[in-house]
Order: sequence, then C-alpha cells, then structure tokens
Amino acid sequence: MLDKDNIHRRIETPDMKDYGVYLAVDRLLECQKPLADLCTPDELQFQIVHQVEELWMKLIAFTLTEIDGHMAAGETMRVLSLFDRVNRIMRLMTDQLSLLETMSPFDYQSIRLLLGNGSGQESPGFQLLLTLPQPLWARYKAAYLDVAGRSVADVYDTGYRHDEAYMVAEAMVEYDEQFQLFRAHHIQLIHRSIGMGSKSLKGRPVELLDAGMRHRFFPELWDVRAAMTDRWGAQYGVKRDSISGASAAGHGSGL
Ligand code: HEM
Repeated sequence: MLDKDNIHRRIETPDMKDYGVYLAVDRLLECQKPLADLCTPDELQFQIVHQVEELWMKLIAFTLTEIDGHMAAGETMRVLSLFDRVNRIMRLMTDQLSLLETMSPFDYQSIRLLLGNGSGQESPGFQLLLTLPQPLWARYKAAYLDVAGRSVADVYDTGYRHDEAYMVAEAMVEYDEQFQLFRAHHIQLIHRSIGMGSKSLKGRPVELLDAGMRHRFFPELWDVRAAMTDRWGAQYGVKRDSISGASAAGHGSGL
C-alpha cells in the first residue's frame, strides 16, 4: 500500500542535493498547483503537459536564433545539426499531445471551468514562434541565394546540385511540415476532448484553427515543387500517355 500523504509531501518538498540545486527542482515543482488543490487528479497532467510544451517552445525559439547566426556566418553544418534538434523537438511536442488523450472528456470539463477565457492562442511560446520564420527566411535568402545570385528554382531544379543551399532549405521544409503536423494533431485532440463543432473559451468556433493548419511558413519552398511538376510535365501536356500501352481509365494513379 502506498502512503499517499507521505508521497505527496515528498513530491512537494524535494530533497535538494547538488543535482536538485543546479536544476532548480524545488522551483520547478512549485510551478504546478499544490496537489491538495487539484480539481481532479488529471489536472496535474494537464498543467505539466502544457508547461513542458512551453519549455520546448522556449528551446526552439532560442535555437532558431542560433541558427540565424550560423546562417549569417556560413556555418552550414551547425545550421543542419541545430535544425535537426528543432525538428526532433517538434516531433516530441506532437507526441506529447497524445498524453492528454488519456484524460476523459468528463475530467476535462471540470478543468475547463477553471480556465477563464484563456486559450492556447495566448501561449507566449507559440506566439513567439509564429514571428520567427519570416526573418529566418530573409536570412536564408541573403546567405544562400542572393549572395550567389541564385533562386529557389535554381537550387531545386535548373541548377540542382544537392548542395548546402538545398540541404538547409529542406531542413526548413521539415520544420514547416512538423509545425503543421503539431497543429493537425492538436485539432484531433480538441475533437477528442471537447468535440467537433464546439466553441473555444473565447466563443470562437474551433474550426477557425483549420486555417492555421493550412498556413505555410516558407511558401516559396512548397511552390517550387508545383512549378517543377508543371515545368517537367509540360513535355507531355496535362495528361500523360500510358507507358504500358494499357488504358489508364478507371485506375487514377495520377502520380
Ligand atoms: C485537452 C487539451 C486541449 C484542448 C481541449 C485545447 C483546446 C484548444 C482550443 C479550443 C483552441 C482554440 C482557441 C481559440 O480559438 O481561442 C486551442 C488553441 C491552441 N492550443 Fe490548445 N487545447 C488543448 C491542449 C493544448 C496543448 C497541450 C497545447 C500545447 C502547446 C495547446 C496549444 C494550443 C495552441 C498553440 C493554440 C493556438 C493554435 C493556433 O493558432 O493554430 N493546446 N486549443
């Protein structure tokens, strides 16, 4: 049998040796509501998941500014390592959303009553992240395209060399994709906890989030693919003849 009172006391008054002091574990564990005040046991998970996500967004914002500096200095290997880190964090952020799927819609409703009209849209980390891609794109253009008199089409297609400019661009595409995957999973989480067609605590329909999910940070890097398909496809027109001689009618592969 577990001695609940004793365990709760030990959780809230950690033994502070050097490890705890360096990591400020006491202050970290004070960032959640006192255990005795939780409206439901699930509230602890709800707070911790949101707080951990804020920490990851802090690390992403910090790392993107480092990346900006390394792009300016032409240090591409560092840029790629750090983008790898950022993209791994984005995957963690998306994975962690699923923890909240272990919370029942009933338990969430009691937590929701305590949120005022607060919403994830007010997340300081998320708001900061939304402002970073544009200046980062300007840096990429200056450091990898303008300086060499190149365009995105040149890097991807007409002058394609699978070089540094291409690798950094693909790391940025990966970030863009991971960010949108986070948004898509978050919408699924909303459907699971408060339902489709419901309103946010600000009274807005949650479907408004769909527009954000379709947003692209680096549209030029997506558009170039469609332009390539059009340019390469121009040799056969809109629809290509079968290469097997068989009729493609009804198969609709459309690769
Ligand atoms: C049960 C869990 C959750 C529910 C029911 C929920 C619900 C919502 C709702 C209804 C909105 C729209 C707000 C509005 O229009 O004002 C929203 C936005 C948002 N939430 Fe959550 N959320 C949950 C978990 C999370 C978690 C764990 C995070 C972690 C970062 C998060 C981050 C955000 C962000 C960043 C937005 C703004 C999204 C955008 O503009 O694309 N949410 N959430």
